Amino acid sequence: MTDIRHASEHDLDGIMTICSIYGYNNPPDFHLQQISHWEILVAVEGLDILWYLLYQIIWWNTPFLALLQIHPDYKQQGLGTELLAAFEKKLFGLGFTSYISSTEPSNTWSLIFHEKKWCKDIGTLDMSHGKEVFFRKEIG
Ligand SMILES: CC(C)(COP(=O)(O)OP(=O)(O)OC[C@H]1O[C@@H](n2cnc3c(N)ncnc32)[C@H](O)[C@@H]1OP(=O)(O)O)[C@@H](O)C(=O)NCCC(=O)NCCS
Repeated sequence: MTDIRHASEHDLDGIMTICSIYGYNNPPDFHLQQISHWEILVAVEGLDILWYLLYQIIWWNTPFLALLQIHPDYKQQGLGTELLAAFEKKLFGLGFTSYISSTEPSNTWSLIFHEKKWCKDIGTLDMSHGKEVFFRKEIG
């Protein structure tokens, strides 16, 4: 059975494993800080972390979905959809009615996923690492 919950320090290894698969090699302290701020959701099945979602609240009023990563063994099985539903339920419970997300334009599958799940492309910014496409989704 899949358990969707906030991450704890015990999930650190699993989170770092998924991040490193996708080329994100932040130090443990980075993840521990996010965990302590309750900004990471995970889905756990037995001892395995199936997916990981990192979000932040900017300007006190705008949730930003910063990272969403499904373990490669579990992609295209509806977990990304399940994860978004859990995330949106949590945000709505906190009183938010929309959130933003972004992806690099070269990430084809992420763009497809966003276009299927997000209502509105709100523009592209030139970031220090390259271009980033932003989306906004209304919830509730
Ligand atoms: C993008 C990602 C989160 C999608 O998660 P997922 O669990 O595989 O997606 P789902 O199974 O819930 O599929 C959701 C929809 O996207 C479509 N989709 C997902 N991956 C697809 C692919 N590789 N090719 C075609 N369609 C795809 C599904 O068909 C589905 O469409 P539907 O709603 O019409 O049925 C996942 O592939 C991933 O973790 N990618 C690597 C990290 C990443 O790029 N994250 C996003 C930016 S932070």
